[in-house]
Amino acid sequence: MFFMNLFRKQRDRSSASKSTKWNPHELPTHIAIVLDGNGRWAAKRALPRTAGHAAGAETFRRVATYCKNIGIKYLTVYAFSTENWSRGEDEVSAIMGLLEKYLHESIEKMERDRVKMKFLGDTTVLSPKLQALIKETEEISKKFEGVQVNICLNYGSRTEILRAVQSLLTERVQKESMTEEEFSKHLYTAAIPDPDLVIRTSGEKRLSNFLLWQSAYSEFYFTDTLWPDFDENELDKAIIEYQSRERRYGGVK
Ligand code: FPP
Repeated sequence: MFFMNLFRKQRDRSSASKSTKWNPHELPTHIAIVLDGNGRWAAKRALPRTAGHAAGAETFRRVATYCKNIGIKYLTVYAFSTENWSRGEDEVSAIMGLLEKYLHESIEKMERDRVKMKFLGDTTVLSPKLQALIKETEEISKKFEGVQVNICLNYGSRTEILRAVQSLLTERVQKESMTEEEFSKHLYTAAIPDPDLVIRTSGEKRLSNFLLWQSAYSEFYFTDTLWPDFDENELDKAIIEYQSRERRYGGVK
């Protein structure tokens, strides 16, 4: 409770975007975010790392709601990578616990929030309880059409690419039919357009095995803001920066 109050106080200081300057007709269709800096956010406050993750989960809900409200069609977040298992057992189980809590709350608020939710990654190794919650969340939310939120869980892009190759070989897809389009259909992100904008918080400037194939022509935006401090205004800044870029896809204008 103490952590949450501390977090809310911070939040209340930065109200939702009052000075929106982006063009509503040129919004990115798909925004992907590497949620980074939860641990440092907590350390700055002499709190356990798990408090940073709890604050990060709150931020995520808030940002997802904002995306829905402004008309972003897809939001994909990197919540837990295939490499994150190497963290301490306590931290991993705290993150899994937070995810369970998040999904319970999402199911409860589903009819109000109306957000379609999908999980990308190998979820078969997660606890049966979490797997059941994931299944239920995907099932109940599939009817919603406004925004689709993709949560990458036990996700690693190299593994995703390898799995796609294996699946193409299993299906004996002929060499001539192995196009970029066909390949994309075998990724976790099949049927999801590539991200237009990839954001990473906390000052780190790398992809860390996130959407390697899909981000070939994405615009990248890096901010020093730690994920729990990220908010609507921060997203506005990223969108404004995105809209100032010229996307040429290797061509010329
Ligand atoms: C990165 O910060 C964050 C994670 C690896 C975990 C993210 C998980 C959550 C926010 C919990 C629930 C998520 C959802 C989507 C409901 P870090 O720990 O690497 O931070 P640091 O680099 O400052 O140590």
